[in-house]
Amino acid sequence: MTEDTIICRCEDVTYGQVVEAIEQGFTTTEEMKRMLRCGMGACQGRTCGRLIAQIIAAKTGTSLSQVPLPTSRPPAAPTELAILAGTPHEETS
Ligand code: FES
Repeated sequence: MTEDTIICRCEDVTYGQVVEAIEQGFTTTEEMKRMLRCGMGACQGRTCGRLIAQIIAAKTGTSLSQVPLPTSRPPAAPTELAILAGTPHEETS
């Protein structure tokens, strides 16, 4: 990987940015999320989360199992109860 290698394609975070954050002392995936927004894009970290954990493990000399993976929250949108119940309903805007 080079400094410019994209690690989080949703948020355009590069390998160099991740390494710089680790050097500043941010060594968890949650801290990376807050610092660089990696893991907060459309895929919610499904693409980059494990990769960032691997970089943290390599740069801090710990094993991957000691780096907790980021929590994920699927995108949510309000849903009418009628839709969940499967009953006829009127569309609201
Ligand atoms: S690749 Fe990082 S949030 Fe999608």
